[in-house]
Amino acid sequence: MKKVYLQTFGCQMNEADSEEMMLTLAAKGCTQTQKLEEADIVLVNTCTIREHAEHKAISYLGRLAKWKAKKEGRKIIFTGCAAQRLGQKIKKKFPHTDIVNGAKNIDNFSSVIEKADLFEDQNTQPLSAPANSPIALVNIMRGCSCKCSYCIVPYVRGEAYSLDPKNILSQVKVALESGAKEIVLLGQTVNAYNYKGFSFSKLLREICSFDKLLRLRYLSPHPMFINEEFLQTLKDCPKIARHIHLPIQSGSTRILADMKRNYTREELLAKLKALREIGIEISTDIIVGYPKETEEDFKDTLTLCQEAQFSAAYCFKFSPRKGTPAALFKELDQKIVEKRLDILLNEIKQSSKDAYARQIATKQQVLFETPTNGRTSNNFWVRTKEKYPVGAVVDLQIKESKDTILLA
Ligand code: SAH
Ligand code: SF4
Ligand code: F3S
Repeated sequence: MKKVYLQTFGCQMNEADSEEMMLTLAAKGCTQTQKLEEADIVLVNTCTIREHAEHKAISYLGRLAKWKAKKEGRKIIFTGCAAQRLGQKIKKKFPHTDIVNGAKNIDNFSSVIEKADLFEDQNTQPLSAPANSPIALVNIMRGCSCKCSYCIVPYVRGEAYSLDPKNILSQVKVALESGAKEIVLLGQTVNAYNYKGFSFSKLLREICSFDKLLRLRYLSPHPMFINEEFLQTLKDCPKIARHIHLPIQSGSTRILADMKRNYTREELLAKLKALREIGIEISTDIIVGYPKETEEDFKDTLTLCQEAQFSAAYCFKFSPRKGTPAALFKELDQKIVEKRLDILLNEIKQSSKDAYARQIATKQQVLFETPTNGRTSNNFWVRTKEKYPVGAVVDLQIKESKDTILLA
């Protein structure tokens, strides 16, 4: 029986794809190992969202040459978004790579594996369910059609399409029956989901009607697709997490237009306000140093953050991705970008600290992901002295906040 070591880079969609590929490998008789040294196969699922992400994946692949040389018959499979961007060039540069399978070809992973003749004994076993986790990731869309000016995703993942709700609902049912408490719906513009008129809100409502479901999350929604129907669904369905991760990218209408984000600062502020009025905590992604970003534009981002009081924000320095429109623009002076990033990070650190502090003395329902760490519906981490079983759901009084963790 072959043992597979899995290394996943990138977003949760990649995590979900990795799980799917592991199921395919399990069906071929493979088991997963946590130890690289005892593995026969390494599956590297990669990201290319920024240059640094791609670099990480490639240098990991480079280091695997030594691992492969140590024992005969070892194999390396390189998949995902960086694999899609770089294609078979990878094999030229790293001849120790056995299979390259890009993100667009994920649905054909099974036949790619079969053709590659990795397995001398064609041991076909029934699919085994993934390890019992309280959280199940479920892909509801593939690709992205937004073509934001800076973003490589539409090129490596292809056009957006929504998956059949029948299949999604049966996947959710299986996950809940095998012990999942929380479902996370995934898609690059997850709230643009629409299957022949079956909307994202309709899907949320259907999933909430499962008795066994405790909590429903979704990643990543796009501000453009936040509409009245969705806001009403949030109001009607308390099982939907009281948190949204809503990437804004910038607070300047001028930059947002250049990025092709399809919303203005004012529209954004109105949507953030509407979400907050329902009691939803908001976290976000922001790009700093987008080409053409002036001091004025940056200030707009900063003041928007001050107003929005995000509970968390991932701030990224703009990274030019070859083939995207924004890669053709002249980059800003890196010193200026560093300075802006620093200012923004300080602002976010403060608003995040404040958001955590606001939770003190509240009662929160915590879903434990480790014996002493769990998350609240509004997405704050809670740590306890007492140990709980993973998957336990406990109502706890928040006593203290320490930077980005709550103590109960
Ligand atoms: N689909 C999501 C985000 C996917 S990528 C959305 O549209 O919001 C995750 C984050 O990476 C983005 O929100 C953005 O902030 C960042 N990002 C994407 N391309 C980037 C680039 N070229 N340089 C820097 N950050 C980038
Ligand atoms: Fe990239 Fe924009 Fe699509 Fe998000 S919505 S994946 S940022 S193109
Ligand atoms: Fe990275 Fe691909 Fe996700 S580029 S962020 S792994 S969609």
